[in-house]
Amino acid sequence: MSSTDEFRDHRAQDRLEILPVHGLPEFRPGDDVTAAVAAAAPWLADGDVVVVTSKIFSKAEGRLVPAPTDPDERDALRRRLIDGETERVLARKGRTLIVASKLGIVQAAAGVDGSNVRTDELALLPVDPDASAARLRSGLREVLGVDVAVVVTDTMGRSWRVGQTDVAIGSAGLTVIHRYAGAYDAEGNELLVTEVAVADEVAGAADLVKGKLGGLPVAVVRGLGSPDDGSTARELVRPVEEDLFRLGADEAIAQGRGEAVLLRRSTREFAAEPVDPEALRRAVGVALTAPAPHHSTPFRFVRLRERRTAVLDALRDRWRSDLDADGRPEDEVERRLARGDLLRRAPELVLAFVTGDGLHTYPDEGRNAAERDMFTVAGGAAVQSLLVALAAEGLASCWVGSTIFAPDTVREVLDLPADWQPLGAVAVGVPVEALTPRAAKDPGEGLLEW
Ligand SMILES: Cc1cc2nc3c(=O)[nH]c(=O)nc-3n(C[C@H](O)[C@H](O)[C@H](O)COP(=O)(O)O)c2cc1C
Repeated sequence: MSSTDEFRDHRAQDRLEILPVHGLPEFRPGDDVTAAVAAAAPWLADGDVVVVTSKIFSKAEGRLVPAPTDPDERDALRRRLIDGETERVLARKGRTLIVASKLGIVQAAAGVDGSNVRTDELALLPVDPDASAARLRSGLREVLGVDVAVVVTDTMGRSWRVGQTDVAIGSAGLTVIHRYAGAYDAEGNELLVTEVAVADEVAGAADLVKGKLGGLPVAVVRGLGSPDDGSTARELVRPVEEDLFRLGADEAIAQGRGEAVLLRRSTREFAAEPVDPEALRRAVGVALTAPAPHHSTPFRFVRLRERRTAVLDALRDRWRSDLDADGRPEDEVERRLARGDLLRRAPELVLAFVTGDGLHTYPDEGRNAAERDMFTVAGGAAVQSLLVALAAEGLASCWVGSTIFAPDTVREVLDLPADWQPLGAVAVGVPVEALTPRAAKDPGEGLLEW
């Protein structure tokens, strides 16, 4: 099957012309764009695409804001106007601010612009450029009796590429996106993902005739033959949930840094799917960078495999005898022991230890006890680092303290040296739902300033 059997190509079938529209006035609020275009281009014909710089709609629709001529004051007003037009900030670098405007359009400065307007004014984008396009289209049909399409343009930079091009921010009467999914090229390759942004290409082509230095805000593309499928330029805005680049790189990194610790929370139910052992290895590698006294790294993590049941059974027996010795009734003992099921259910179980590697000794017991405490708290920092690193890998975890209460039992089952102090077990698994960061706390009583 060739492309012409079932699918139209988006290219012009014969030849394409781009005609300047000379003689348009300088637009001011309240002016009639339709009357002006009809007067300047009475030669418009059916099928033409009238490509209009958005600035003339901004002016005619009263989207001009009086601005001071002092550069600093003008800049301050510009920033306030950008704020008002902004839905979401994507990236900031120096004076450049990339935002998604309330129209959904991602561009520098939300389209707030001081070019091709008086020096005592700033221009905002039209409120609804698709509606502006539709009005001009139906107006031209009334005045000239022609069936034309209209594309409203603005100038934008692109990620990855230097330089700006014009794109469509409003349109009426043509197919804004030509989709090729299901079509085959001349060699028989299926065009699975090709979607040509026809309206943007029209905008870019017309800019080659309109230019930027004023006087030619409208050009006509003739010969395209793009059918009206009812689409509008709004369809060219990629939904944010499908956007792989919804934040600037610096902003995404900063957000990730800010959220890493807040992603961690104690999770006691996990999805059935297995944990990637490489992700676990990477997280342990991060945990081993935790601060420790005397430039030591006295941390050890044991990923339980064959001996897991033996360890858990021994811990359970030990716990049961402690509870029995406390004189607890049998049903309460069973209820408490059932809480340990978390460690049996978790897809992965990692035991944390702090060793005596690098532990200093002193002549008095007070300092020896403090030294041991110092190693214990360092071990706590390593476990927290593990939990945070797991969360950053998208893995859920719960730190369970039971091994701390049964150090001899754990060392015995695993044949560990006497100076390995258990710091608890970390249950690890794939979360049932993706982890989301929680809000940091107000320091409140947690922060004293004396
Ligand atoms: C040293 C230590 C021991 C813990 N032991 C257990 C435990 O035995 N069982 C359990 O379900 N959670 C245990 N936790 C998790 C706490 O219950 C949990 O951190 C607390 O409820 C706060 O919730 P969050 O971790 O989601 O912020 C332990 C936490 C720490 C730091």
